[in-house]
Amino acid sequence: MHSLQCVLQVQRSLMWGPMASVSWLSLRMCVAHSSLSSTTCPNPERQEVGARKDFSSRLATGPTLQHFLRSASAPQEKLSSEVEDPPPYLTMDELLGRQRKVYLETYGCQMNVNDTEIAWSILQKSGYLRTSNLQEADVILLVTCSIREKAEQTIWNRLHQLKALKTRRLRSRVPLRIGILGCMAERLKEEILNREKMVDVLAGPDAYRDLPRLLAVAESGQQAANVLLSLDETYADVIPVQTSPSATSAFVSIMRGCDNMCTYCIVPFTRGRERSRPVASILEEVRKLSDQGLKEVTLLGQNVNSFRDDSEVQFNNAVSTNLSRGFTTNYKTKQGGLRFAHLLDQVSRVDPEMRIRFTSPHPKDFPDEVLQLIHERDNICKQIHLPAQSGSSRVLEAMRRGYSREAYVELVHRIRESIPGVSLSSDFIAGFCGETEEDHIQTVSLLREVQYNMGFLFAYSMRQKTRAYHRLKDDVPEEVKLRRLEELITVFREEATKANQTSVGCTQLVLVEGLSKRSATDLCGRNDGNLKVIFPDAEMEDVNNPGLRVRAQPGDYVLVQITSASSQTLKGYVLCRTTLKDSSAYC
Ligand code: 5AD
Ligand code: SF4
Repeated sequence: MHSLQCVLQVQRSLMWGPMASVSWLSLRMCVAHSSLSSTTCPNPERQEVGARKDFSSRLATGPTLQHFLRSASAPQEKLSSEVEDPPPYLTMDELLGRQRKVYLETYGCQMNVNDTEIAWSILQKSGYLRTSNLQEADVILLVTCSIREKAEQTIWNRLHQLKALKTRRLRSRVPLRIGILGCMAERLKEEILNREKMVDVLAGPDAYRDLPRLLAVAESGQQAANVLLSLDETYADVIPVQTSPSATSAFVSIMRGCDNMCTYCIVPFTRGRERSRPVASILEEVRKLSDQGLKEVTLLGQNVNSFRDDSEVQFNNAVSTNLSRGFTTNYKTKQGGLRFAHLLDQVSRVDPEMRIRFTSPHPKDFPDEVLQLIHERDNICKQIHLPAQSGSSRVLEAMRRGYSREAYVELVHRIRESIPGVSLSSDFIAGFCGETEEDHIQTVSLLREVQYNMGFLFAYSMRQKTRAYHRLKDDVPEEVKLRRLEELITVFREEATKANQTSVGCTQLVLVEGLSKRSATDLCGRNDGNLKVIFPDAEMEDVNNPGLRVRAQPGDYVLVQITSASSQTLKGYVLCRTTLKDSSAYC
């Protein structure tokens, strides 16, 4: 019964599909008022106005609502990553970027960083240019987050600043267009367009391929939106453009969406159903990154270890993989497909000098074969993010996490036995609905018991549409949430400092990222556990070229002797330059 309701909730969110058409409806209504829009927003460039009028009349005689309802309900065809043929109401020229400059701003999680690169890859192919200078932008796109109220408030504040920029825009330039992309577009849909008339484009997380068309429509002065969620969009064929060409590491998206429906979480509603990218396309991207000399890949998804590639029919009868012991799912057990252990194995074989990480996993999907593989393979980092959310079984049940405190702690023990020296991190929420002081104390005690190396702690923020919003009461007063959060942070820091201090006196393999932000004479990199390591930039020996003195460069592996540790950073001095393979004996 419970899981059925969950599925229905997800499906209801998917049924927002036709919303996209409703937005189209509003688009056509705008066209009917086109004379109005040209008086309220006069364009100094006659040519531009003429072109818009022409566009508007084509749009008015263009597709009907039925046309869009049809295309919304038809199975989504995979579009090629090349520029598409224009729809009947646009010319090819209008669909192209025509050297317009795009400024992209990313908020929220690493998934959004990757989505920004995907959106940019699509726009670049359409003839847009990228700028990092807000003042010279013709199009400003915000890739947004809805996970907590505060994240959305940041975007609203930013929109007010951008409004001023849009109003002050010189008439001699093309009008500035502003777009909201990602989770907030998906969650609030036309509410954003109504509340902030200066927003021109809305694109949900599964609609980035449609950006060139949406922007072309916006060029005419109309608002345009696509918030259609997909059952199969993984952008498998869109190679993200790495924002920093000198970067040592990259994110590779392996799956999208989430089927878990934890009661507090908006993600299943903004990012839709869980779907995995085909293994072959992931491997192709990782090989390309290795050829470019990148030294670290982080496999990315809302539930990376629930990965299940069912695109190859011959693997679809494979027996289902076990869950972690003591864990259950909120959905009907899925069968077959290529699972995470297979993917991790294949990815780690691409380049033995490339570190492999993954985030964010769910504790339910850590069967023994995954743990065994992490232990065995030198280049799979011994670092596991294990989001607990609470230390109280009662609260975990209210969150519908599918495990008790005891099952979670048992999993921690099993992970530590299987992967000696593993670094653990977690997410916690303070002040969830009905959380008592006793529940809170249980969370404090879990932090003490596990002694995480890294932690991400949040005060509960009620989100509309979630199960908690409909069924539970947000009854922990704000000041109590904040006080509990502070206590969790203090305990986490104390324990992380102790955990990290066990590294003092050890030699650790560090992947160099570049200069330390705090000092021009120090370098900064990360150890296998993903902790920041700071060390003086000094000459050292290269183990592969005895006698050669070198200085560490971004992308080099170096051995660092650790001399001190805090809750967030390690410090030390560099011993030599090495390779990942050569160093495995040291750590
Ligand atoms: N309020 C506070 N924190 C939340 N998270 C998810 N939803 C909420 C919410 N409504 C936290 C969880 C999750 C992390 C990404 O964000 O800890 O693991
Ligand atoms: Fe949200 Fe993560 Fe739970 Fe999915 S597994 S509903 S993304 S917290």
